[in-house]
Amino acid sequence: MMESFRHDVIVVGGGGAGLRAAIAAVEADPKVTVALVSKVYPMRSHTVSAEGGAAAYVEGKGDSLEKHAYDTVKGSDFLAAQDSVDYFVEQAPLELTRLEHWGCPWSRNDDGTVATRPFGGMAVPRTWFAADKVGFHMLHSLFQHSLRFDRIVRYDEHFVTKLLVDDGAVKGVAALDIRSGAMRMFQGRAVILATGGAGKCFPFTTNGNIKTGDGMSLAYRAGVGLKDMEFVQYHPTGLPGTGILITEASRGEGGYVLNAEGERFLVTRDYGVGQKAELGPRDMISRAEILEIEAGRGIKGPYGEFVQLDLRHLGEAKIMAKLPFVRELSKIYAGVDPVHEPIPIRPVLHYMMGGVDTDVRGATPLPGLYAAGEVACVSMNGANRLGSNSLTECLVFGARAGREAVAYGRGASDGQEARLRAAAEEEGARIDALRGRKRGSEKIAALRSEMQTAMESGCGVYRKQESMQQAVSDLARIKSRYDDIALEDASKVFNTEILAALELGAMLDVAQAIAVSAAHRTESRGAHACRDFPQRNDRDFLYHSMVFHEESGPRLDKKSVTITRFQPEERKY
Ligand code: FUM
Repeated sequence: MMESFRHDVIVVGGGGAGLRAAIAAVEADPKVTVALVSKVYPMRSHTVSAEGGAAAYVEGKGDSLEKHAYDTVKGSDFLAAQDSVDYFVEQAPLELTRLEHWGCPWSRNDDGTVATRPFGGMAVPRTWFAADKVGFHMLHSLFQHSLRFDRIVRYDEHFVTKLLVDDGAVKGVAALDIRSGAMRMFQGRAVILATGGAGKCFPFTTNGNIKTGDGMSLAYRAGVGLKDMEFVQYHPTGLPGTGILITEASRGEGGYVLNAEGERFLVTRDYGVGQKAELGPRDMISRAEILEIEAGRGIKGPYGEFVQLDLRHLGEAKIMAKLPFVRELSKIYAGVDPVHEPIPIRPVLHYMMGGVDTDVRGATPLPGLYAAGEVACVSMNGANRLGSNSLTECLVFGARAGREAVAYGRGASDGQEARLRAAAEEEGARIDALRGRKRGSEKIAALRSEMQTAMESGCGVYRKQESMQQAVSDLARIKSRYDDIALEDASKVFNTEILAALELGAMLDVAQAIAVSAAHRTESRGAHACRDFPQRNDRDFLYHSMVFHEESGPRLDKKSVTITRFQPEERKY
């Protein structure tokens, strides 16, 4: 008989948003227990790799909540839900201060105040940091704080494969225990998805291998729409070859972006970033880099053409104090010491603005299902996220989802156990049939790489109608071939092949949602830069795109944007 566990709230994902949600849930009610179900040990979650900082208003620095809100909405190319943005900016300083009380060592000014650095698209320096290892320190603080609560019960290395829905509401999850290969059932009154993004749908990304869109696919398969999926963010400073992130903090601390001629093209040429130059928003800088390369001002390298990030003028002392990790990464992975040489860089897939449709409470339209962090689209990032808003987003909306899930659970009933068990057992049988299934002629690795190629050529920094349509049809074909995959490994213990197969299934859902959404938006907005339609078109496209799962393929729909005090205007810097 399948082993079963019962908790009030089930959090799926052990990174920044998941840990914050779990802590908020147990703090909201002394009787509540939480299952923290994570594909990896929490400290291996992708939050750990965040580098540059977390944004929040700090008093006495010429900032205001209104300015933070305006920068975020403008950065989003006016597609952000302004109620979500308002809640975010209000809660941001409270969350970052709370995290310090839990041990996060924010860097300080000499007078003892919190140090902040400039970040792209922000009007004032409001990015809190701990050198350039922010994700590491934030995740440690959250994880260690979570250990204070024995009512947060961890189920590490459990891969959730299905949401259990009973009587129109989510009542649990079915998960594969990676260590034993056994399927398990988790019952609860509410489930919070906090599984992060889906960067691995693309071949060249800052994202760790675990970011395969699992939570997006779970919600999508349960009938929840994926919102604004066409908006994927390229970070302008990735290392060629590996895609390893060279943090935006390098530009925040004064770094220059140069072309092959040693020219600061963001200053000398008109790429729309104005006086902000290297501190323009990511979508614009990524496009500028591509245009420089296309104009023949890139540098040829073994992994394609690149431009350069120059930190030499900052000097060794500043680099060691503020950007030690950048130096370490550049030396190890690019063979250059930024104290003495520029760093090769190019745009790299970094973040999904879109995700599981939620409102400002983190609630999805499916009762009992919540989502927070990169997996979710609470719509605070719209068509383009500002760097350093996302770590704070994990805290603000992780906490909110945790509290809301507890409140919801008080008025909800348990699912009907027999029905839930039947659904979990059916899911277990599906996984058993897949494991070591030799019949089939398709290979996981080949399909994954074809999917990634389709995404890069159809949904890259610049897009064309024809290539987006091509990606849509390529993905439909790849998806039909997925049903014919062959698996070699029939063993149960740490069977990474079946994980790869399940992850590929999730990525194909997400990739299709991205391509279909992108192909339908015949305008340019934020990170969606369409060469055939270079202008933003508010008359026809000022809405969130929605994609729903149907047996016949993704179905598109739309949703209105919450606009309160900031009316759409031309986005100029
Ligand atoms: O460049 C960075 O440090 C990335 C920050 C972010 O994506 O928010």
